[in-house]
Amino acid sequence: MVLPERMRRLPTVDQFWPSARRTRRRSLSEWKRLNREIDRCRRCSLGSLRTHVVIHRGSLRPRVLFVGEAPGASEDRAGIPFVGTAGKRLDRLVAQLGLLESELAIINVFKCRPPGNTFNLEAALACRPFLARQIEFLQPIMIVPLGANAVSAFRPDLLPISHAAGWLSRWRGLLFFPMIHPAAAARSNALRRRWERDGKSLLKVLSRLGAGAGPAPVSSPATTS
Ligand code: URA
Repeated sequence: MVLPERMRRLPTVDQFWPSARRTRRRSLSEWKRLNREIDRCRRCSLGSLRTHVVIHRGSLRPRVLFVGEAPGASEDRAGIPFVGTAGKRLDRLVAQLGLLESELAIINVFKCRPPGNTFNLEAALACRPFLARQIEFLQPIMIVPLGANAVSAFRPDLLPISHAAGWLSRWRGLLFFPMIHPAAAARSNALRRRWERDGKSLLKVLSRLGAGAGPAPVSSPATTS
């Protein structure tokens, strides 16, 4: 998805965080209530265009939370994040990282498919409170935003994605490790190599945390700023 300049000026997830913190109870019924709210959402025009709202895949107690941009056509049909071509690349990364199902979750910044995969300002504003509440509930130790759109929901200061990807920093006390979007990795050999290199850095970070498959050689920087 192309990232317009005005997107950098949108309120980030931080602005919805205080309200998110009021939903601290982490009962299953709280999660189901949030999912019902997202499922019924008609705050923007995408609500009436979608086949399915796309909410979450994976654990409810993840250590690592991947945050994608927006559902594509396959995800819209299935109602599950990252089940299309980009999802296959992400699944391969997850397998290489040795992450167990219980250690990871996958969500998106946008909960409904934007037709033509174009940026939608209304949707961005409507979805961010939900994104904040999902993260507050899931309480991961690390967020891995995939692509510029996902990074900009949290830390637009880190953009462009070519600079942000592969570097470990923090967002609200959580580890924050941006990567390029898996769909972008299919666009050129250079981007595929970048995806693979940053994946190796992520593996190194995770092994330090005791998550995933353990140590492996890395070739790119991974430091906490
Ligand atoms: N791309 C995304 O960013 N999210 C999905 O769920 C699928 C493709």
